[in-house]
Amino acid sequence: MKPQLILLGAPGSGKGTQAKRLVKEFGYGHISTGDLLRAEIAKNSELGNKVKSIMEAGNLVDDMTVLELLNANCDLATNAYIFDGFPRNGEQSKLLEEHVLKGTATKAVYFKIDFEVLIERITNRRLAPKSGEIYNLISKAPKVAGKCDVSGEDLIHRDDDKEEVVRNRIDVFKKTIEPVLDYYKSLGNLVEIDASGSADTVFGELVKIVNK
Ligand code: AP5
Ligand code: MG
Repeated sequence: MKPQLILLGAPGSGKGTQAKRLVKEFGYGHISTGDLLRAEIAKNSELGNKVKSIMEAGNLVDDMTVLELLNANCDLATNAYIFDGFPRNGEQSKLLEEHVLKGTATKAVYFKIDFEVLIERITNRRLAPKSGEIYNLISKAPKVAGKCDVSGEDLIHRDDDKEEVVRNRIDVFKKTIEPVLDYYKSLGNLVEIDASGSADTVFGELVKIVNK
């Protein structure tokens, strides 16, 4: 049985890009708490309205709201999952273990990267909301400008990808990540990878981790 995978990394470190490839290669379920929250905002749900301004400012949504959303969208009895964007602080690490993973074999992979490159990666990101494809004007441009290669739909910018918001998201990450890394280190589950290489190189590292 493949391990549950937790992808830990700063905004723009490549978690979503790699999660998509791992899903194709290994059949994982993909839980991105950011995607789940954005879907709630798009639906105009009560939860979406509650979190909209928090996300637009690049701050963290409260732990229990995100845990409930995550729990409602995964079933460990039927599949192994990639957790992308959760946990984000020490408390969420404990909540994930106690309420969801409960001792299931897990690997937490930290995408190590120089924070300087993240702004450029994110400001050049373009997304296809329906197909979920992730592009980059520098490293992965769409074949036709502004259109998704897979679905043909218009590509968008995320509302929280403005430079000043990205800077706050990176600051929030720097302030909250250490206890998460310490937690998985203490469980003996932490693996670090160099996330600054090409998407293919990073994927090769992840394949080795899953197969080990
Ligand atoms: P979330 O959606 O999780 O965003 P994030 O963590 O800030 O990360 P990103 O999605 O921006 O980056 P990524 O690592 O997925 O990079 P990507 O692969 O797209 O969270 C958003 C918000 O939701 C939070 O701020 C918070 O408000 C809320 N939230 C979510 N989870 C929460 C939680 N647990 N608790 C509380 N609040 C929560 O790649 C980025 C770009 O780089 C792309 O253009 C891509 O093509 C390119 N790229 C990727 N890999 C490479 C590479 N190797 N080389 C060159 N370019 C690359
Ligand atoms: Mg992402």
